[in-house]
Amino acid sequence: MTTVSQNQVVVETEDKQDNLLRLPYFVSVEQLSADDVLHLLQRAQYFKNGGEVPALSRPIFCTNMFFENSTRTHTSFEVAERRLGLTVIPFDPSHSSVNKGENLYDTELTMASLGIEISVIRHPENAYYNEIIRSKEGQHLQMGLVNAGDGSGQHPSQSMLDMMTIYNEFGHFDGLKIMIVGDLTSSRVARSNMEILNTLGAEVYFSGPEYWYDAEEFSKYGTYVKNIDDEIPELDVLMLLRVQHERHNGAEAKTEQLFDAKDYNAAYGLNQRRYDMLKDDAIIMHPGPINRGVEWDGDLVEAPKSRYAVQMHNGVFVRVAMIEAVLRGRKLGGLE
Ligand code: CP
Repeated sequence: MTTVSQNQVVVETEDKQDNLLRLPYFVSVEQLSADDVLHLLQRAQYFKNGGEVPALSRPIFCTNMFFENSTRTHTSFEVAERRLGLTVIPFDPSHSSVNKGENLYDTELTMASLGIEISVIRHPENAYYNEIIRSKEGQHLQMGLVNAGDGSGQHPSQSMLDMMTIYNEFGHFDGLKIMIVGDLTSSRVARSNMEILNTLGAEVYFSGPEYWYDAEEFSKYGTYVKNIDDEIPELDVLMLLRVQHERHNGAEAKTEQLFDAKDYNAAYGLNQRRYDMLKDDAIIMHPGPINRGVEWDGDLVEAPKSRYAVQMHNGVFVRVAMIEAVLRGRKLGGLE
């Protein structure tokens, strides 16, 4: 049942066992249908409303393997795992045998041999997960893998928390005008979100410097807007992206010379003038971390139209639902 409370739509108040998602691994939004997303969001909402997590019939060991820096994703996965009653085994890449040259497959084979059944991985290599989920002949690695971000490829847990934030606000996706702004080519958030927003029926727009827009890839999912101000008054959601200087190498290296933070802020940054142009019920999102004063003027990060803190809060509950989906998909701890 849908109820409206303090301008937020509370969509799900009951636990519906028959709608539970079951997946052997959770690595990309490409795995998900629109119904899958809605069921996951319902489940996350159930947990957010205080619904009980399922009881495990035996201890389940998991580990979080972050080969790239993280604050939100790493911490909220750990909170989610502890809420689910998993036993979290620490893993520190800087003191691991990866530094002796061990590859990711062999590291995961080691983890599985030690009894770890769920691993959450963030890794700089796009689609690193294929090595683990598509074992070659003679290889028997079994791991409930959850992707916490691969290079510029996918960021499914960010996408799910973004979808929860939008759904909580509007109660649907159909026809919502959503603009993704900024460093598009480096962004796994942009890629996951443009794909899933298309699946869910939203209208996607892109803006930002043209050197970070690849028409061949992005035009399949939305419309590029050169002057952000032309579209701002029509938007339901303004989704800002972080400028990811650390990814500007290889083909992107030349963009570091073209980029100027002050010019970027003037052309694409969320300032008071643009804030006032947004509809009263429009919302502003950012995956974090924020370059304050570049993508978003610092004094507006917690303004009424901002959902930045709500996104991070929702992240815990979608991650509980995502890990639960893998526990059920692999029939671990008595869950089915
Ligand atoms: N949004 C996001 O992935 O943030 P972290 O890098 O801090 O996890």
